Amino acid sequence: MSESNIIIENTDSVRTITINRPKQLNALNSQTISELSEALKEAEKDTAVKVIILTGSGEKAFVAGADIKEFASFSVEEGKKLSKEGHDKLFDLAQNLSTPIIAAINGFALGGGLELAMSAHLRVASENAKMGLPEVSLGVIPGYGGTQRLAQLVGRGKALEMIATAGMISAEDAQQWGLVNHVTSPDGLMEKCHELASKIVKNSSSAISLAIKAVNANYVDGVDGFATEIEEFGNCFGTDDFKEGTSAFIERRKPNFK
Ligand code: CAA
Repeated sequence: MSESNIIIENTDSVRTITINRPKQLNALNSQTISELSEALKEAEKDTAVKVIILTGSGEKAFVAGADIKEFASFSVEEGKKLSKEGHDKLFDLAQNLSTPIIAAINGFALGGGLELAMSAHLRVASENAKMGLPEVSLGVIPGYGGTQRLAQLVGRGKALEMIATAGMISAEDAQQWGLVNHVTSPDGLMEKCHELASKIVKNSSSAISLAIKAVNANYVDGVDGFATEIEEFGNCFGTDDFKEGTSAFIERRKPNFK
């Protein structure tokens, strides 16, 4: 069996998944995509895991993109399959995971790497991070959701500037553009992610998962986000977390969500 390309660690109810191909700047080959897919599904099933932090190993890169060496000789049909399988197995899975994912961007997040970070629910970047969608410099377009998610996060004009110039932006610009939530020193990156995670884990996991569903509904064709919100708001009233959260408020104590 080939060696694993990811490392999984648990701290309290936070699971850190580290993409571990540092010599290839953590480029996403198909094996790594499959392993990440399995790891996310497993984390979602594990009720002890309340937040996932996704990062890259080494000091240089979060992920430098899809593995160019793997797809360089692909045909049109193979290219379509690569993109579709990536969407289904990892990028859509991550965006719609009921467990919140924080991307800890510790260096280059390019192409499929930025697309992976954009599929996460929150993004924190270290100040040495560089982000971009350089695919057109290779004669392809972003194929793991970048044309859609970048425009959703930063607007169409800035997205097309990043895509058409194939350039990289700094963490500071990324924060200004709304692409990342926070910027930290390289040493402070994981600490900031754990600080955010520690706030999230105090809240109702079932409510957070329904909030993710309602927010994402805005981006699905033919789905009414407001109707989803109404439906899921109502569904919250049937959960133990709702009973615990409201009782705790009335009894002037901290909630203890199971
Ligand atoms: N795929 C495969 N290998 C990659 C890679 C990638 N995306 N990015 C880096 N590597 C490999 C390099 O080939 C090199 O391996 P070797 O030592 O075996 O030659 C190793 O990682 C280190 O990289 P560099 O020597 O290039 O490091 P650098 O510091 O000089 O440059 C970099 C860093 C600017 C990030 C440069 O590596 C680079 O431009 N990488 C490619 C970025 C890119 O184009 N990403 C988009 C990929 S396409 C995509 O993602 C499609 C999609 O949307 C589905």
